[in-house]
Amino acid sequence: MQPLSRRNALLLGGLGVAGTAVGAAGLAWTLTSRTPPVTGAALTHPAELRSAGGTLALELEAARGPMQLAGRPATALGYNGGSPGPTLRLRAGDVLRIRLRNRLAEPTNLHVHGLHVSPQGNGDNVFVAVEPGASFDYEYRLPADHPPGVYWYHPHHHGMVADQIFGGLFGAIVVEDADPLPAAMDRVLVVSDTDLDPAGNVRGVPPAERMAGREGGLVLVNGQSNPLISALPGQRERWRMVNACVARYLRLQLDGQSTQLLAIDSGRFQSPAPVHEVLLAPGNRADLLVTTVAGESVLRAAYYDRGSMPGMMGRGPAGGDTTGPRRGVALATLQVSGEPAAGPAALPSLPAPADLRRVTVAARRQFLLAAGMSPGAMGGAGAGMMAFTINGREFDAARTDTTVAAGSVEEWTVINTSPMDHPFHLHVWPMQLVSVNGDSPALPAWQDVVNVPANGRVTVRVAFKDFTGKSAYHCHILDHEDLGMMGVLEVR
Ligand code: C2O
Ligand code: CU
Ligand code: CU
Repeated sequence: MQPLSRRNALLLGGLGVAGTAVGAAGLAWTLTSRTPPVTGAALTHPAELRSAGGTLALELEAARGPMQLAGRPATALGYNGGSPGPTLRLRAGDVLRIRLRNRLAEPTNLHVHGLHVSPQGNGDNVFVAVEPGASFDYEYRLPADHPPGVYWYHPHHHGMVADQIFGGLFGAIVVEDADPLPAAMDRVLVVSDTDLDPAGNVRGVPPAERMAGREGGLVLVNGQSNPLISALPGQRERWRMVNACVARYLRLQLDGQSTQLLAIDSGRFQSPAPVHEVLLAPGNRADLLVTTVAGESVLRAAYYDRGSMPGMMGRGPAGGDTTGPRRGVALATLQVSGEPAAGPAALPSLPAPADLRRVTVAARRQFLLAAGMSPGAMGGAGAGMMAFTINGREFDAARTDTTVAAGSVEEWTVINTSPMDHPFHLHVWPMQLVSVNGDSPALPAWQDVVNVPANGRVTVRVAFKDFTGKSAYHCHILDHEDLGMMGVLEVR
């Protein structure tokens, strides 16, 4: 039943886009593939590597090669032969050492998204480039009070980020709780999207889709299409969800189950509240507690309208499904049956999150996110391309856009002047939400990606503590980041 409705949704989405002149290549997988994704297979998890004695040391080899995607043979990018790459399980205070080997035909590098670690030297330094055939030794030192939660790693070489993630380069990082929360299962669910041509290769993406932010028609959880999760009734499961899609928003719903939201990104709530749906912008994570109820439930990414530029066409085979049924995508199916398990143990009391809303700020800044016609749009180089800017400028690694005094608290207002949403991401330092379009959250909310709605504004506060050095902020629609919507921050 699920496979059929999912395929119909894809086909309808694809046909909807066909009427709007998206490049035919974008429809290749949907309309000509003779091997539809395998759905309903038991969920698998990426290999897990755990730190011991305060250290985790590993090699990550980035390479193009054969692997299974959606249960079918594919040729894609992976770390250590798989997509997602291995899940890294760490503790606060650990040292993480990664030797990145680049077996790609182009430069790459590594970013540990959301980790509060130094951006300098061989730390979380996105200005490092690792050339084909070369390797680089990263070292990340997590502070002793690093927040527990789910994070992720991915390439960050400017101009190639979207292609390399769409190709399959990403993996999860878990920082364990000092006192584990009682749960029958602790699952990492990495959601990604891509498109494969009939030969199983990841397709190329034309400029119009880059400007919109590409959405792949093949939406995967841990590399599988709508896998099956089996559980006993009355158990608490912990689902750590990562939105590793280049541009796709995930409006998560799990009808028929009792779901609580423990955290978004590193922002743990003091009391996990029941939720009906959770919106994850690209880059966001959700830490969910699911108390199982007998029956079958579909974990769904419901349709979300993130806007578009006037005259701008499709996002990919399924993304521009405004004329389709808008029924969204089935990510996974949860089947709960059997003898009810003993009810889950009570959650330990959780610490109250920090709250910067009443402190004195050292500076207030504005960041203007804009998507407009580039100077070359009337002819010549760049014709037909739009410029994606922050405060009127495209990214330049050699320019420092924002200088902040180490140790200070600042208030940043991010203003979106375009008719599409942009998810604003800051490296190293988490942001506390102060307001979204004038509305303030009831409880302290800490995120490293905050969605700035179309023609809207978001205000955040940031404590620039613990580290100095150069880092970045950008739109986490990674096509927009590659097109220039990124700035350099220096804390000193
Ligand atoms: Cu997940 Cu600068 O990115
Ligand atoms: Cu990041
Ligand atoms: Cu954007």
